Amino acid sequence: MPVLSKEDNMSLLQAAQLEFMSHRFTVRYDWSNSEERTYPHAYLESICNLIKSQNMKTVVEIGSIRFPYYETDGLRHPKREDGQALWYWAQTGARVHSVDINEGVLGVWKESGGENYPHVSQHIMDGLEFLSTYSGPPIDFLYLDGWDVGSPEYQKRHLDAYELAQVNLADSCMIAIDDDDFVSESKGELVYPRLISNGFVNVAKGRVSVWVRG
Ligand SMILES: C[S@@+](CC[C@H](N)C(=O)[O-])C[C@H]1O[C@@H](n2cnc3c(N)ncnc32)[C@H](O)[C@@H]1O
Repeated sequence: MPVLSKEDNMSLLQAAQLEFMSHRFTVRYDWSNSEERTYPHAYLESICNLIKSQNMKTVVEIGSIRFPYYETDGLRHPKREDGQALWYWAQTGARVHSVDINEGVLGVWKESGGENYPHVSQHIMDGLEFLSTYSGPPIDFLYLDGWDVGSPEYQKRHLDAYELAQVNLADSCMIAIDDDDFVSESKGELVYPRLISNGFVNVAKGRVSVWVRG
């Protein structure tokens, strides 16, 4: 479908609703009964379309790439559980900050061709610490995909990450949280009510939950 840009006088919300309308991202799936789990890439591509069409400049990702990205066997969307989202954000040209507590992600990004993307920086530190000390330009897109489902206080930590990021979010911005298909165990379960009370509108639900404001 045609990508609408700021020049079309579309708000981010309108552009996002149009972008995701062409998908079936309106239902929250039980991952055990669907293929959502293994195909996050359609969500990531739509998010990238919006980053580009809305001329978003600053992307922050909590939870970096832990398995290498390969263009395997000619498949554009090879089946895999992690999204390798950093590779997608890198294609947009936006300034990307990707944060992870585990320094192993440095080698993984290198193996994925990271040296070709000088506008991408990895930060090896706690995601909450990064967000509480961030002093760069307003964040246009925030991707929350850290603390794994089932790890201690993972839902609370994603809420904390959102709360810390708030002061640095651009007025018009987008937030996505991975693993929404785990339904009540999703990473964003505690974040969603806060997003609603802060004026965000949900534009996609499924493997990834996508919210916009403005
Ligand atoms: C689900 S993986 C991220 C996957 C990646 N976003 C992708 O699309 O392929 C979660 C990552 O969060 C990282 N993580 C765990 N605790 C963290 C913390 N306190 N701060 C930052 N990252 C953390 C883990 O090391 C792991 O690499």
